[in-house]
Amino acid sequence: MVLVEGTLLQMTIFNQLKQLQEHCYAPYSKYPVAVIVIDNKGNQYAGVNVENAAFPVGICAEKAAISAAVTNGVKELKELHLICGTGTEFGSPCGSCRQFISEFMDKNAPVFIYNINGEVKEFTVSQLLPFGFEKKNLGE
Ligand code: THU
Repeated sequence: MVLVEGTLLQMTIFNQLKQLQEHCYAPYSKYPVAVIVIDNKGNQYAGVNVENAAFPVGICAEKAAISAAVTNGVKELKELHLICGTGTEFGSPCGSCRQFISEFMDKNAPVFIYNINGEVKEFTVSQLLPFGFEKKNLGE
């Protein structure tokens, strides 16, 4: 993990993430999560967490954003930007999302995690999910 100085792009994305958090549907946890994924052409796809009265039915922001990319015909993502909650602590993708992310991003691709002050921590996909389950494990 590296705590990086925010680049201009990251500061722009941070502002977009904060705006996106207003679209989160998190009335139960009150924990808004927003994600932007970026493809090889620089196109962005956004997602937010969408909860449900039947708690396990809700969807995480990472899955929403990646599903938006796939819906638009994009299956390779080069970076992921994430903001969790409204505090100064840094959030973290849940285990299920780490597996979901690893399907569409290179092992060395960066995942940027922001706190509410716009500070950024950078991880690679494989740092978040070492020894993950892959297509090749299915013998493909
Ligand atoms: N959440 C995400 O959207 N992504 C994660 O990786 C962690 C958790 C959401 C799910 C739920 O709506 C809320 O955060 C609290 O768990």
